Amino acid sequence: MLRSHTCGELRSSDINKQITLSGWVQTSRNLGGMTFIDLRDRYGITQLAFNLDWNKELSEQANKVGREFVLQITGTVIERQSKNKNNPTGDVEIKVESLKILNEAITPPFTIEDETDGGDELRMKYRYLDLRRTIVRKNLELRHRLAMEIRTYLDKQNFLEVETPVLIKSTPEGARDFVVPSRMNEGQFYALPQSPQTFKQLLMVSGFDRYYQIVKCFRDEDLRADRQPEFTQIDCEMSFVEQEDILQTFEGLVRHLFKTVKDIDIPTLPRMSYADAMKYYGNDKPDTRFEMKFVELNDIVKGKEFKVFNDAKLVVGICAKGAAEYSRKQLDELTEFVKRPQIGATGLVYARFNNDGTIKSSVDKFYTEEDLKKWTTIFNAQPGDLILILAGDEDKTRKALSELRLEMGTRLGLRDKNKFSCLWVVDFPLLEWNEGDPNLLASLAGRWHAKHHPFTSPKPEDIHLLKTNPGAIRANAYDIVINGVEIGGGSIRIFNKDLQSQMFEVLGFTKEEAQKQFGFLMNAFEFGAPPHGGIALGFDRLCSMFGGADSIRDFIAFPKNNSGRDVMIDSPSEISAEQLKELGIKL
Ligand code: AMO
Repeated sequence: MLRSHTCGELRSSDINKQITLSGWVQTSRNLGGMTFIDLRDRYGITQLAFNLDWNKELSEQANKVGREFVLQITGTVIERQSKNKNNPTGDVEIKVESLKILNEAITPPFTIEDETDGGDELRMKYRYLDLRRTIVRKNLELRHRLAMEIRTYLDKQNFLEVETPVLIKSTPEGARDFVVPSRMNEGQFYALPQSPQTFKQLLMVSGFDRYYQIVKCFRDEDLRADRQPEFTQIDCEMSFVEQEDILQTFEGLVRHLFKTVKDIDIPTLPRMSYADAMKYYGNDKPDTRFEMKFVELNDIVKGKEFKVFNDAKLVVGICAKGAAEYSRKQLDELTEFVKRPQIGATGLVYARFNNDGTIKSSVDKFYTEEDLKKWTTIFNAQPGDLILILAGDEDKTRKALSELRLEMGTRLGLRDKNKFSCLWVVDFPLLEWNEGDPNLLASLAGRWHAKHHPFTSPKPEDIHLLKTNPGAIRANAYDIVINGVEIGGGSIRIFNKDLQSQMFEVLGFTKEEAQKQFGFLMNAFEFGAPPHGGIALGFDRLCSMFGGADSIRDFIAFPKNNSGRDVMIDSPSEISAEQLKELGIKL
């Protein structure tokens, strides 16, 4: 071994020991007679001391090493003069007796410190250096810990980890696929899995009963802070279960993870219907760390002189506790916020319930003091509160108010990253009408689209609506939401060939198309498929949630940037004419 100890290990109890350490030079300080080097490895930092009086040659050698050089040193552990309480090895230092440079390093393009001077792109380009930073490494250590605990929990519950293929078949009804050309089958393509959905269902037909896999999935969709083109799911499936069994099992997993990894006791997860989530939060993944629920005002604001409210399909608002003292400037900022094209509201109406009991609104012209009193009552507002109201089309207005609610939550400090509010959202609609979703193929516009996926079972009591009112059918589908982030989603599956083929029909597939794309699954259903259901949790999202971060990037060792590029290896990239020819691809 090139070391006897790690750089995070030595304590006062080791004083006088002869040791050997290997690691990287974090910093080096030449104080004239003395030189100090901080030597770093994955486990910590140990101070090395050199003194001209102890050994002139060695001191001179130490003064020549630069940042990030790789050293091996041998020496004696001694007590440190000025102890560093912030470092676990800070009571000791090493009186170095021999030093070997194992490798030199050119100056890194940014400082390898928690607070680095490197911008995002630069750190992505040199990701292997970024990963040397303790703060980033700790994120991956957390990821490892979570993976271990997930395996422990699921193994105890009898789940078997089974690997499923990565080169599969394109099924363009979900997000867009990444495709891989086949050399041996010219003109044909594999697709990378968006999830192992059909394979895990086939494993249930095979009798595996409980399956899981921590698995890479690939989706060619627009990227955001919580979306990567390749990401990892904790993918699970169970046989002979109903929705309740799945909710219990995975609520158990989430609570186990919070307990073992963060020592937090999560109470029983509340359940909210999709309809209520939309009604009270305008969002199917409500951030329930704070209340600020929507209040609908159609009944009390219409019929006065205010045209905006009279013309609106929906007038709806929130009450921001303690924000009545918001200045004109702050209110203007909020108005600008809701008018941004991404939010799309036409304006913002506010009413301040002042501490002296008076109410001042931006629409005083149209509403009497008595009218406004009614508003405060319906919002259950107290003196000191601020009422914010939007009006317009139903869906758009709810969406915009949801954004405003989150913005107010942030401004009022109600979205503490160390507080966790988990819930199940249940009873999702089975289908949604696709007006032209930019993340789907254009040919799928103007059709019903499976809200979760086409294998999700309708609620038995709603099946009769398949032909008459598909939009009203509720699914046995559920999402697990933590702090306003969709951490996972799943459903009870269809396990009957006829119902599955009816479902494809509603989704606009001809019989032939359905058979061509999903015949393998429907055929399997004819060989005794058990009732089954499952869920997949976004592992990267779970890690960033546990790490208190918004972006999943720093919890992935080698992530892609916002344009889906790996700037370190410079991918995607062109391939040679010879490769193209072999694949039979003409550009
Ligand atoms: P779904 O599509 O809801 O379900 O995905 C499950 C979870 O995966 C995470 N996720 C992502 N994370 C990072 N980047 C992405 N691009 C991304 N897309 C999804 C989310 C999401 O909740 N087969 C079904 C599951 C099932 O029915 O069992 C599925 O894939 O956290």
